[in-house]
Amino acid sequence: MSSGYGYGKVILFGEHFVVYGLPAIVSAIGSRTIAYVQKLTSPDLQLIDDRQEVPGYKKDKKEEQNKSIENILNYCKIDPKKYGINVRFSGDLVAASGIGASAASCAALSRALNQEFSLGFDDEKINLSAFEGEKGYHGNPSGIDNTAATYGGLIWFKRNLNGGPNIIDKLNMKDPVNIVIANTGLTASTAKVVADVRKQKGKDPKKFEKIFNDYCDIISKARKALIENQLDEIGDLMNKNQNLLRQINVSSPELEKMIKIALDYGALGAKLTGTGRGGNMFALTPGKGLQETISNIFEKKGYMVWKTTIGI
Ligand code: MEV
Repeated sequence: MSSGYGYGKVILFGEHFVVYGLPAIVSAIGSRTIAYVQKLTSPDLQLIDDRQEVPGYKKDKKEEQNKSIENILNYCKIDPKKYGINVRFSGDLVAASGIGASAASCAALSRALNQEFSLGFDDEKINLSAFEGEKGYHGNPSGIDNTAATYGGLIWFKRNLNGGPNIIDKLNMKDPVNIVIANTGLTASTAKVVADVRKQKGKDPKKFEKIFNDYCDIISKARKALIENQLDEIGDLMNKNQNLLRQINVSSPELEKMIKIALDYGALGAKLTGTGRGGNMFALTPGKGLQETISNIFEKKGYMVWKTTIGI
């Protein structure tokens, strides 16, 4: 039996904008998905998904997951009609929208298959395989989630719209910073939300041009602020990024409620992360004390919460 891992992630800046070739910044988090793969003696494809989940997530994503596994097996040139394979997903990353659960499972499975079938993949190939898997979840992914899931760390990512290699720069923060991630309990379809944003952009290109320009200003300042640990500035830029996400209609009443709670209790910034319209938000909460306060408040209100660190 072989195993492989993939990191969970938070997009700090630039979800949705990254689809259109604008740069974004993503950070891996401490939690990971682990995939176990075992060859069987007769042709079959068995799947056991032992990941903890936000209720309904696995059922909602079942069809997409099947397609994703099929894509990865194709990329790895493994035919389950010839070889029997047992796949099991586990690990401490909860299966939820907005935290990179799908990409983490794709990277984990690619790594486990690489080992079990001695494919000789390096991380670049693992990332390409995970990208094929991500297509099963949302047709035309930017590639940011599988990149974070494969490499970990803090990454500046820019999609190559011509199909060549993407820009993937590792960033270093002087000191890691505490964040709190909280889940709305709602599962969003990335494919649907991305398609809806595209439709809005088609209807009102002028509005989007202005939003994209404002975003470009935010992301260049965010890179500098992160590298220099300017925490107030990072928080302020997160709030500004969230404002643009509101304008493209990917926030939701539940996310807005949670963002307000985090800011009211002293977070330096708060925004949705990932697809939006459900899924997760995160708050910048430097120091264990503030992180504890805000995570306790969310827990008391019944939200699923993770305390983690960016910039490790
Ligand atoms: C989803 O985690 C991030 C999106 O920007 C989609 C993508 O980048 O493919 C919404």
